[in-house]
Amino acid sequence: MRLILYLGKGGVGKTTTAAATAVRAAELGYRTLVVSTDVAHSLADALDAPLGSLPTQLAERLWGQEINVLDEVRQHWGELRTYLATLLRRKGMDEVAAEELAIIPGMEEVVSLLHIRRQARDGQFDVVIVDAAPTGETVRLLTMPDTFKWYASRVMDWEPGTMKVARPLVKSLVPAVDMFASLERLTKGVEALRDTLLDPQISSYRLVVNPERMVIKEAQRAATYLALFNYPVDGVVLNRVLPMEAAEGPFMQEMARIQQGYRQQVYDLFAPLPIWESPHYARDLSGLKDLADVGNALFKEVDPVKVQFQGTTQEIVREGDEYVMRLPLPHVEIGKVAMTKRGDELFIEIGNFRRDMILPTTLAERPARRAVFRKGVLEVRFGPPEPIQPVDQSPIS
Ligand SMILES: Nc1ncnc2c1ncn2[C@@H]1O[C@H](COP(=O)(O)OP(=O)(O)OP(=O)(O)O)[C@@H](O)[C@H]1O
Ligand SMILES: [Mg+2]
Repeated sequence: MRLILYLGKGGVGKTTTAAATAVRAAELGYRTLVVSTDVAHSLADALDAPLGSLPTQLAERLWGQEINVLDEVRQHWGELRTYLATLLRRKGMDEVAAEELAIIPGMEEVVSLLHIRRQARDGQFDVVIVDAAPTGETVRLLTMPDTFKWYASRVMDWEPGTMKVARPLVKSLVPAVDMFASLERLTKGVEALRDTLLDPQISSYRLVVNPERMVIKEAQRAATYLALFNYPVDGVVLNRVLPMEAAEGPFMQEMARIQQGYRQQVYDLFAPLPIWESPHYARDLSGLKDLADVGNALFKEVDPVKVQFQGTTQEIVREGDEYVMRLPLPHVEIGKVAMTKRGDELFIEIGNFRRDMILPTTLAERPARRAVFRKGVLEVRFGPPEPIQPVDQSPIS
């Protein structure tokens, strides 16, 4: 079983790419399900077919599904949510605020992923393609052990360890709900989900970008956090590349020229991940035929269901009071390394290779001390955080 998850900034082409990958996978002989959790039903638009909350067959070996996240949350999380809301109300919070607060941040995405995992495990599919993977927020939520117990305990003033003691008390409050059983079930589900999502043989994350500055920045940030938490990323989709030869007139030519610059950046930034490109089409993409075109443009002879990259793209380890970041840069020639750090950005130059990196918070607050490039790996050392400068607290006169 394979799980392929696309992520990227709004509007970059996640839904189109997910659907195109699914069409290609089905053509190659895999029993394929493409699934979306988007309430806007854009997957149905891309596939140009009505979809429902159960898999709908669209072609030979191809199914599509749109999960209704709100229903899922109500079904699997409803008891717990009602329960938390009751407790919050007892603490004097008004109705609507209590209802809102009882929704754990990231819960909706987790619940839909739980559903997708079940589908992938129990269903008859070789590959499940997820249109729009969880955001950074959800990745963090999934990574934290016992998140839900922790969250629930904050709301209820318990320590997770004292739950057993509190059980009879809580049962007497809302007798119909076994809130502990719900919490246990959810926690187990999330643990299994995490194992699945971290397994590089099963799951592959793919970043979707356009040749645009802000889109690329956002994808770098996502790549940094995915790498930090060991989620397996196996490629980058570069969508909407203007064909240079088709660009007519000074305006279009200038745009195509600027895009070529960003295109090069994508290759430099995301190496050694494979990059799959798709041109900017002069038409709205919709239906299986269009999606097959996109799939062919992207993957050519590559089988997109197979794992396309394995290994680390970035590694951060602690050594004494220093942190060491290692980046494999297999295509870079040996040269003198120059480095500048500004906030959470790190600029690296090795000969004529340049990379502008986004650092995770742990490294952003530390000074970058030394960078060396050896045997195709860049190694950067970060020292302990600098002491906080005392702030002048004299009154303003
Ligand atoms: N390569 C392309 N050429 C031309 N149009 C494209 C291309 N890729 C996507 N589009 C169009 O751009 C629009 C947005 O694409 P899509 O819905 O796939 O993006 P998305 O990342 O899923 O957006 P959202 O974040 O809103 O879910 C769609 O109308 C789609 O048909
Ligand atoms: Mg979409």
